[in-house]
Amino acid sequence: MSVGLKNRRVLLGVTGGIAAYKSADLTSRLAQAGAEVRLVMTAAARAFVSPLTFQALSGQPVSTDLFDEAPARGMGHIELGQWAEAAVVAPATANFLAKAATGIADDLLSTLMLVVTAPVVVCPAMNVNMYRHATVGENLSRLRARGVTVLGPDEGPMACGDFGPGRMVEPAVIAEALAAVLGPADLAGRKILVTAGPTREAVDPVRFLSNRSTGRMGVALAREARRRGGTVTLVLGPTEIEPPWGVETVRVVSATDMHRQVTARAPDMDLIVMNAAVADYTPARVREQKIKKATANLSGIDLTSTLDILAELGARKPPGQILVGFAAETEKLVPEARSKLERKNLDLVVANNVALPGVGFATETNQVILVHPHGEAEKLPLMPKAEVALEVFDRVMRLLPD
Ligand code: CTP
Repeated sequence: MSVGLKNRRVLLGVTGGIAAYKSADLTSRLAQAGAEVRLVMTAAARAFVSPLTFQALSGQPVSTDLFDEAPARGMGHIELGQWAEAAVVAPATANFLAKAATGIADDLLSTLMLVVTAPVVVCPAMNVNMYRHATVGENLSRLRARGVTVLGPDEGPMACGDFGPGRMVEPAVIAEALAAVLGPADLAGRKILVTAGPTREAVDPVRFLSNRSTGRMGVALAREARRRGGTVTLVLGPTEIEPPWGVETVRVVSATDMHRQVTARAPDMDLIVMNAAVADYTPARVREQKIKKATANLSGIDLTSTLDILAELGARKPPGQILVGFAAETEKLVPEARSKLERKNLDLVVANNVALPGVGFATETNQVILVHPHGEAEKLPLMPKAEVALEVFDRVMRLLPD
């Protein structure tokens, strides 16, 4: 679930496209994340989904008409536009985009677009040929130039049978982008590198050595850095977890790949959070052919150590750069973390006891101890990884130079 949406006031406009049904899921996600959601539907949207659906999911009356005599909860339409801390139109049809781009105000939603002073996000959804039409492109460019965030469209099979760009981006992505639009922007202008996930060390074409990391914690960290306005690069090992919205993601497989991708980018970064569970050992040689049990002895594999990426970054740390490491331990948590902090020249170590239930690898939650250079060790309670990420960045903010 997205953090940063609690008690935030979001105006959700729904226009008439088949993707309108997905906006029910979006409404529910936003409401579950604690946002106050007010909906405005166009007449065409109501042909696809009933206002009652959105009313039930948002717990608020849905506004539909410009000349409604009983405005929603006593809030006049102009006030509704001013009430919003962010406005999102999903799906946004070609017709709506044309009106928003040119200032045509002939229904409630298009009128509100002239009233809203808060950030606006639009999520185009339409037939692929319509999307490719020059007029739509021009309208989107105009909106972008005015500071509107355009999300998507995604590419894929369309309801009309065509294939291509035109699908509305997924509600989870819209919620994430909204959290970023509403975010504190305290990392704006900072370059942040986050690593996440396991690495895989090939033994032969079918086997590898790896660990239980799923990348969830690192992905949550990258998402949080983006929510706070940072320019984020995520170097991500092999995992099924979706990378966050708005982040440059570099996929890697082995510790050697990760070393190469991280060290090439490191000198340019203001902050590096090394969360990946990098293999400490790799097979001394990778067999070209599959090792056959009838002919080979697989009772042992010769291993050689990998390079310690974080130690190398610490040894070459440019002035002002902040380096955060993780420590996955099963015993002597704080002393082990402190020794890593000193050995690797770090500014903060996030330690977790991966042997405890609900902590560390392959869980939705984590419980960490933040180990600082000058003695302090701060134990945080068990919480969702998104919240751990928020706490980590709250601490990191204090370390960054002005
Ligand atoms: N790390 C790294 N490169 C490696 C191994 C680890 O950059 N080859 C980083 C991890 O991303 C983490 C930190 O070092 O931020 C500590 O990793 P951890 O596995 O806890 O400890 P190690 O340094 O590998 O030491 P040990 O295995 O003895 O605990």
